[in-house]
Amino acid sequence: MKRISITVPTSYDIILESGALSRVGEFLSEIYSPRKVCIIADSTAGSLYSETVSASLKESGFTPSRVLFPAGEHSKNLTTYANVMEALASENLSRSDIVLSLGGGVVTDIAGFVAGTYMRGIDLVHVPTTLLSAMDASVGGKAAVNLLQGKNLAGIFWHPRMVICDPDTFKNLRESQIQDALAEGVKNATISDASLISKIQEGDLEYMLERSLSIKKSLVEVDSNDKGLRQLLNFGHTIGHCIEKASSYSVSHGQSVAIGMVAEAKGAFAMGYTKNDISGELEKILKSLGLPTELRYTAEELYKYALIDKKISDGMIALAVPESIGKCTLKKVTLAELEEFFNRACD
Ligand code: GLY
Repeated sequence: MKRISITVPTSYDIILESGALSRVGEFLSEIYSPRKVCIIADSTAGSLYSETVSASLKESGFTPSRVLFPAGEHSKNLTTYANVMEALASENLSRSDIVLSLGGGVVTDIAGFVAGTYMRGIDLVHVPTTLLSAMDASVGGKAAVNLLQGKNLAGIFWHPRMVICDPDTFKNLRESQIQDALAEGVKNATISDASLISKIQEGDLEYMLERSLSIKKSLVEVDSNDKGLRQLLNFGHTIGHCIEKASSYSVSHGQSVAIGMVAEAKGAFAMGYTKNDISGELEKILKSLGLPTELRYTAEELYKYALIDKKISDGMIALAVPESIGKCTLKKVTLAELEEFFNRACD
């Protein structure tokens, strides 16, 4: 078993252990006495894992209940959020009870937003069952739903009290879901560790997960509210989120980030924000992993969505600019410069 502790400023543990799903109750007993635990899951994770988690919770004296919603990015909206909130109230969940997310990034986001706002905030535990949510969404406290106008526009920072990850669940993922995680792995390598690329190409997913968590930990611990260095994690996401929205979420998050990273690297060089054009190198790496790199949208089609990016503040936005594979810096630009950046990136 591995444990990574993260301090934001309260500390919580990320537990990585094969078979952890059937020990969820035991792990929760380390920090909680018996109480109600509402499992929030999507239809996929719910049918695969909620029985195991419920049984483990009962064995340790907790009282589990379950709220399910349909799997997929299209569920990440205010309607699902409201339905889950009302389900918690119908269960008479109190402020001293626990919300437990079980699933991928969509579940993590909805459960986090619900936990942070139900009765002005109750405790949250994440049990990510996809590699991507284990590497990213379950750690760092970002929780949001999409609005019609764009991705992740309604949300909160709400940190979990514990993250319990059972890598055995990754065996049930589709190849495309693994590839989505590889795109985030390449992003983490590009922002801070070039040597991670060869590990990803060798298929060492365990190493990729642990190294990605340590990179994320180092950024979140110095900037939990995403006002400074944490924004490096947005490399590929400024354009990536616009691609997701423009495609009505038919291009997955990982695919969009892959395409977004190549485009942003190209745009950053063309704008003179970096001396090196690493877009070709990135393209080769991403293609070797089976990820798409070709941008099928014009700057005009994408830029309108960038204007509602929540990172815009006082008419400025910070872009993560790659100097080389392994080193990114932040560059603050005006909206006029952002538009030009999109033009050059999508050229
Ligand atoms: N997913 C990027 C972050 O948590 O900041």
